[in-house]
Amino acid sequence: MQVFTKSAEIKNTPSLKKGITGFVPTMGALHEGHLSLVGKCRNECDTVAVSIFVNPTQFNDKNDLKNYPRTLDADLALLEKAGVDLVFAPSEAEMYPEPDNRVFDLGGLDTVMEGPLRPGHFNGVAQVVTKLFSIVEPQRAYFGEKDFQQLAIIRYLVKSLDLPIEIIGCPIRRGEDGLALSSRNVLLTPEHRAAAPQIYAALCKGVEMMDKASVNEVINTVRNAIDNNPWLSTEYFEIVDTASLRSIKQWSDAPHIQGCVAVRAGEIRLIDNIRFK
Ligand code: PAF
Repeated sequence: MQVFTKSAEIKNTPSLKKGITGFVPTMGALHEGHLSLVGKCRNECDTVAVSIFVNPTQFNDKNDLKNYPRTLDADLALLEKAGVDLVFAPSEAEMYPEPDNRVFDLGGLDTVMEGPLRPGHFNGVAQVVTKLFSIVEPQRAYFGEKDFQQLAIIRYLVKSLDLPIEIIGCPIRRGEDGLALSSRNVLLTPEHRAAAPQIYAALCKGVEMMDKASVNEVINTVRNAIDNNPWLSTEYFEIVDTASLRSIKQWSDAPHIQGCVAVRAGEIRLIDNIRFK
């Protein structure tokens, strides 16, 4: 496994010029969820490239950036074991020698759910992902469905910029108790960690009710099931058209429907989602 910190070194790597390069962008603090993306990429591509970079431009909260877990040595050991060919772990100065002032049109997908609560977040994601794509030049890139809105935005971005990259969404990985795996889970207090599986339990309850309840009834039930736990507080739970990410009113409003939730567990925000149809 080759580890690079400079983009010029990546550009001169011969293995990236042969066959299909698959790319898994990450912010490190790797867990089973990331490794499932890497595993899929390994199965489907000739060369597997992974980036590890905690991107400051996508953090709208300074404390979140400061506290974000950084475990580079452990990450590299996991990636080596997973059969990764190349890791790009640049410094901030390498990625942003100049401030990145680009503002992306994200088709309005950034104005709902996470958007208003995390101003500038998705523009920062677009900045770093487009930079990483132009450095690594992959044919395929793998993203987790846990960040459902991010995945929709990256698909939109690639299409609107005509980038020759296939975006592949990978299913959420969960702990045995149902909590969606996330690098931020290690930051939960024991009480919040014990409460957190209630989020997925509430989402499942919502899906079970779907046939006999209105969209509004499901929303209220899911929110209450989360908020009845004293350690959790729902920021939003929206049932949306998978394509536009706009809230639906009736189950017949869209062919594919997803329920997306953000929950505050003490200092930590957790997001999760589930397919309704
Ligand atoms: O999903 C993430 O970990 C990040 O948003 C990404 C895509 C690596 C960009 O920094």
